[in-house]
Amino acid sequence: MIFYLQGGYVPQEEARVSVLDRGFLFGDSIYEAIRSVDGKPVFYRDHLARLHHSAELLGFDLTGGTPDLRAIMRELLRRNGIEDSRMRIVVTRGTGGRDQISGFTPTWVVTIEPFATLPDEEYERGVAAVLVSVARTGVASLNPEIKSSNLLNNILARQEAVRKGAAEGVMLNPDGLLAEGAYSNLFWVDAAGILRTPSLEVGILPGVTRQKVIVAARAAGLAVAEDTAGPEALESAREILLTSTSWEVIPVTRWNGAVVGSGRRGEIAAMLRDRLRALYHEDEEDDA
Ligand code: PDD
Repeated sequence: MIFYLQGGYVPQEEARVSVLDRGFLFGDSIYEAIRSVDGKPVFYRDHLARLHHSAELLGFDLTGGTPDLRAIMRELLRRNGIEDSRMRIVVTRGTGGRDQISGFTPTWVVTIEPFATLPDEEYERGVAAVLVSVARTGVASLNPEIKSSNLLNNILARQEAVRKGAAEGVMLNPDGLLAEGAYSNLFWVDAAGILRTPSLEVGILPGVTRQKVIVAARAAGLAVAEDTAGPEALESAREILLTSTSWEVIPVTRWNGAVVGSGRRGEIAAMLRDRLRALYHEDEEDDA
């Protein structure tokens, strides 16, 4: 594959950064994972806004300019001859030692890989998820709003889930409230039919898919609540869903080893995935 690195396009094997880069040394780096569908990057503006928000929260100096990421992504699609991809925009603070506090030149990288969604049977069958003992980092330690490339918290959560035979691990925040999956946002449908999801104040990544799903659900006439809940709320859920750029809207049909609802995908999960996928083609990406 051909990747973007610091103003140029290079073969994957030649895409190298310095061992003095603070992304490598300290995980001092941010990223966005963004898909292209039928040759178009989807929800580009949302991803770009979140990237800038992450940069701001970490005090990255981007005043030297942001490369034209939309043009770069289109060029990567063209050069690699693919239409459906997952691209990763990575920005590090730049090279420098631990005690350096200013004067950095950020490192910009965009990688690309072909991407296909899971087969429909997997969406019908759903996945297993478990509550993990690893807590999501607190807002006052490493705010989960920052989409940092330091994914140790997420890696520990996912490892624990996989050890327990599940596809995803759901983390609580430091106060014991439901937060999010290792790499996904969490939703559930309660006994009254309300679609619920932890609010941003709990300390979660503001998922692009999460936001699209909230808007799509309201447009479909569903009541949606963003609030706080303990893990026991999932025990009586009719449906549990996970959302992410890669998974779209995937049902959890086994929660902590117990069957959820009918044990197959529920109708709200199916409807929300359809509505999300419709948005890939309605996105205003070309008009900007
Ligand atoms: N991450 N929460 C966390 C901790 C995540 O890492 C992700 C996804 C999400 C879902 O966000 P979005 O809908 O914007 O993809 C929630 C990316 C996709 C990744 O795993 O690389």
